[in-house]
Amino acid sequence: MSKADILMGARLTKKYGNLAVVKNVSMNVKEGEFVSLVGKSGCGKTTLLSVLSGLERPTEGQVILNGKEITGASEEELALFRRAHVGFIFQSFNLIPTLTAWENVALPLFPMKMPQEQRRGRAMELLNQMEIGHRTEHLPAALSGGEKQRVAIARALANHPKIVFADEPTGNLDSATGDAIMVILNNLHKKQGMTMLMVTHEPELAATADRVIRMQDGEVIA
Ligand SMILES: Nc1ncnc2c1ncn2[C@@H]1O[C@H](COP(=O)(O)OP(=O)(O)OP(=O)(O)O)[C@@H](O)[C@H]1O
Ligand SMILES: [Mg+2]
Repeated sequence: MSKADILMGARLTKKYGNLAVVKNVSMNVKEGEFVSLVGKSGCGKTTLLSVLSGLERPTEGQVILNGKEITGASEEELALFRRAHVGFIFQSFNLIPTLTAWENVALPLFPMKMPQEQRRGRAMELLNQMEIGHRTEHLPAALSGGEKQRVAIARALANHPKIVFADEPTGNLDSATGDAIMVILNNLHKKQGMTMLMVTHEPELAATADRVIRMQDGEVIA
């Protein structure tokens, strides 16, 4: 693997108080790679994802994302960096309840001083791509779990991210709906070359990735 291929490289420890939750973990993700992260509940997966994506800071070590050392960045720089380069998909969707589907998708574009019609156009394009173009004016409460996650995936893609972080994206869905969401994620990788790092509990889902990273008690074991 040449250095130029590496989109994200990190070596880090994360402690909460005295408790090391992620212990001297090093990992790389190549441009266009789909990596899954598995391990028992409480082993540190979400914590690792939060630090790798710049939501939290490591206690020790560093994270390089898209050629930038993000560890030393200010809060404001980090927020700008995340907005420009990173997409997030969560287990619990995290949609804004008072905004319609399209408004949720357009939200990351708001700070970019893009005219409303253009933001709406981009949101519609993504919602159509997610096959939920018929639900654009609905509030999240009026959407099913699978529909909410489609909206959340569209939102994650709005700013053309370099990498998408997904934390148990099918964890709140029944298995058929979860499978449909996995088809979408796998297609993002295969057809659009999206770089993704996905946390999952389910070995069958993890196995669809290019590479599986296993964690145990805050350490990478394989
Ligand atoms: N903000 C925090 N303050 C203190 N401890 C925390 C904090 N966030 C997580 N922890 C602890 O860190 C450990 C790892 O948590 P984390 O959420 O990363 O696990 P996980 O592997 O994602 O688990 P799950 O599969 O249940 O989501 C847990 O013991 C948790 O209690
Ligand atoms: Mg977790």
